[in-house]
Amino acid sequence: MKIFVDSANLQEIEEALLRGFPRGITTNPSILSKEKKGDFKLHIRKIIELIQKHKYDIPLSVEVFTADPKEMVKQAEEFVKEFGHYKNLNVKVPVGWNELAVIRELRERGIRVNCTCCMSFNQAIMAALAGANYVSLFVGRIRDVGYEAFPIVEQVHRTLKEWSSPCEIIVGSIRHIHDVNDSIRAGADIVTVPPKFFQQMVSHPKTDEAVNQFLTDFKTWLS
Ligand code: E4P
Repeated sequence: MKIFVDSANLQEIEEALLRGFPRGITTNPSILSKEKKGDFKLHIRKIIELIQKHKYDIPLSVEVFTADPKEMVKQAEEFVKEFGHYKNLNVKVPVGWNELAVIRELRERGIRVNCTCCMSFNQAIMAALAGANYVSLFVGRIRDVGYEAFPIVEQVHRTLKEWSSPCEIIVGSIRHIHDVNDSIRAGADIVTVPPKFFQQMVSHPKTDEAVNQFLTDFKTWLS
C-alpha cells in the first residue's frame, strides 16, 4: 500500500517530500486551478524539479484537459514532449467509451496511463482491460450520490487480483482521514491524499500526552 500526494501546490508537495512518505503525486485540472494563475507547463516542470531535488523517482499524474478523444491523444503527446524527460510521468485520462480507445492508443505508444474519475466496478475493470496502469476510484464522489464506495474498491481489488492484472487501484476523493484506513482495508494499492490530512494522520493526543510525560518525568529526575 502506498500514499500519494493529491496536490499541485509546490509548498505542500515539498513539505510531504521532506518527510519521506510520498510514493507518488496526482494532479488534476481542478487541483491545478487552485494555484496562482500562470504557465501550466512551467508549473508541472516545477513539480518535477521538486521531485528530483529531493531525490525521488515516483509516479506523477498529469491529466488531459479536453473532452475530445483526438485532442486527448495530442495533449498526451505534448505532455511527453514537455515532461517526458521525467520517465515516471503518467497521463490521466477520464474513463469513458471513446476514452478506452485513447487509453489503448497511449499504451501502444508506450505512454503510462492513469484512468481517472472511475465511480463503478465496470468502469474500473474496463479501464484495466484497456491497458491502464492505474484506475482511480473516487470514493468521496461515489458516496456523494448515496452509493457505498468501499465495496466497489474491494470488488475491483478482488477481480484484478484474480486476473493477476498489473493495473493498480488508486483511491482518490478522500474526505476524511478514516477514508484512508477504509481504502487500505478494501484493498487499494494506493491512496492519494490531500495534504491537509497528513498532519492529522500522524497525530494522536495520547502520543502528545506520552511525549510530554516522558520529558516532564526526566526533567524532574534530573533536577
Ligand atoms: C484523484 O486522482 C483526484 O485528483 C482527486 O482525488 C479527486 O478528488 P475530489 O473528489 O476531491 O475532486
